[in-house]
Amino acid sequence: MSQKSYKSIWILLFYILFYSAPALAAERYIIGFSQATTTEPWRLLFNQLTRHEANKHENLTLLVRNAQDSVTKQIADIEELISRKVDALLVSPKEAEGLTEIINRASKSGIPVFVLDRDILNKNYTQFIGGDNTLIGRNAGTFAIDYLGGKGKAKGVILEIWGGQNSTPAHDRHNGFRDIVDQESGISCLNVKNDGDWKQDKAYQIATRAFQTHKNIDLVYAHNDPMAYGAFLAARDLGIEKKMAFIGIDGIPAEGVRWVYDGILDATFLYKTPGGDAIQQALRHLQGEKINKKLTLPTLKIDKNNAEQILRQHGLLN
Ligand code: FRU
Repeated sequence: MSQKSYKSIWILLFYILFYSAPALAAERYIIGFSQATTTEPWRLLFNQLTRHEANKHENLTLLVRNAQDSVTKQIADIEELISRKVDALLVSPKEAEGLTEIINRASKSGIPVFVLDRDILNKNYTQFIGGDNTLIGRNAGTFAIDYLGGKGKAKGVILEIWGGQNSTPAHDRHNGFRDIVDQESGISCLNVKNDGDWKQDKAYQIATRAFQTHKNIDLVYAHNDPMAYGAFLAARDLGIEKKMAFIGIDGIPAEGVRWVYDGILDATFLYKTPGGDAIQQALRHLQGEKINKKLTLPTLKIDKNNAEQILRQHGLLN
């Protein structure tokens, strides 16, 4: 090869390296995360695990906003994240109706949107990640039937305390539960649609009123653990907590699992927080991988048979 051709090859190599180097370095991403609230321990764990996963990726900046249980604030938070032109948006909506329009707007502006835990009224987003709340409701119903005497023989009165009635998990948890317990002629569910908005103190008030009006309640089914605990406290303050069972949902180790271990709740059902998966899925999508429209997280029944083992696994028992 001539001297000249060597020179041209070197020049060519230089240009290839010079122009492709920035592309070879990992691309930087900003992911916005609009969280509905941080009141419940489940939400705190959700935020913690989202940050933990985000911190594993050096090329990622995570911006977290807390809507403090306000739909108006959550809309403003999402507007702000859209105006910052985040590369992807994670949203766990306070409720379905109030957040649908702004989430649709984010998608329309070209931002991939990941809806987490509570769904909206349509599917104009990239992906939904959450547990199967209908299945969880059904599993809770099966537990209730077993506690009340078994299939075909169950007898008793159930008080159900709803989570936020404008949110999809509350409806799915109700429908799944009723699908199962309504098959038992000996079971009756009190005909009151109590909206506890996922809050322990509201559940305490609802349960106190219900216990004073209906003396024969055998089981409380609350749509999350904080509300099941609120109902337990109400029963304890009236001296009747031993007469009934308490079922909750979430099953986080330091809360629901601990309450089951302590004999406060009879059962809880794991409702895995979706933040870690959301970061992974968003990154995959941003890097051009194909992802599914829906990612369903697993659940698990937690009762006296496995609560201790779970606490040990998490280093919460000596
Ligand atoms: C926390 C929470 C959880 C519940 C979930 C349902 O805000 O109430 O306890 O499982 O939201 O969306």
